[in-house]
Amino acid sequence: MQPTPLATCPCSVVVFASGRGSNFAALLKAQQRGKLPIRIRALLSDKPTAPALLLAENAGVAAAALSPRDYPDRASFDRALFARAAEFSPDLIVLAGFMRVIDAAVIDRWRGKIINIHPSLLPKYPGLRTHQRVLEAGDTQHGASVHFVTAELDGGPPIAQVRLPVLPGDTATTLAARLLPLEHRLLVAAVGLFAQRRVELGAHGVEIDGRVMTTPLCMTDDGMLAAN
Ligand code: GRF
Repeated sequence: MQPTPLATCPCSVVVFASGRGSNFAALLKAQQRGKLPIRIRALLSDKPTAPALLLAENAGVAAAALSPRDYPDRASFDRALFARAAEFSPDLIVLAGFMRVIDAAVIDRWRGKIINIHPSLLPKYPGLRTHQRVLEAGDTQHGASVHFVTAELDGGPPIAQVRLPVLPGDTATTLAARLLPLEHRLLVAAVGLFAQRRVELGAHGVEIDGRVMTTPLCMTDDGMLAAN
């Protein structure tokens, strides 16, 4: 399939973030530099104090927080959050440090339109404390994954991964610090593929250029995504 021309059809994106928003900032920067055929329409958060909200406001991107405490249960909150996102007619919702499990029924309605960045080489280490768990297991490699979101926590099919070696003396802090810039590049590259309509979630898994992928794409040192 041909890439979609930048100027005529930018992919409409809404980002969900709970915290500092460095992945959101990386997407925004790539958009502003004309390197990504996307238009970030809004930043939504579950945390009214999330620094990501300020980043969005300062960049002139619509920003809003909904507080889970204002809703009777998780499903009601998620329905409200996604209803808010739907106001921006997104082609894609990016979970970029969004620290909540989303209701399965809500996710099903958005199948193939939500991706998440996770700091581990999935299927290893879904959930929290990934850097620490890598060290405790004695792994020699760590990394990050961008995957389509399904009802299973961090369990949806991966699109692309980036790897980095674990070095002697590494701590969870040093590992996280070395991984973060790679996460930014990985997320930008994966969103780029989606925006160019080159990657999608088909009936049999992730498809790249119309073919089902058996292993996730791997980010090379020059920031390109290559088949494994
Ligand atoms: C990233 O490490 C991301 O992989 C994880 O949460 C962190 C968010 O960082 N899900 P930021 O808010 O994008 O700076």
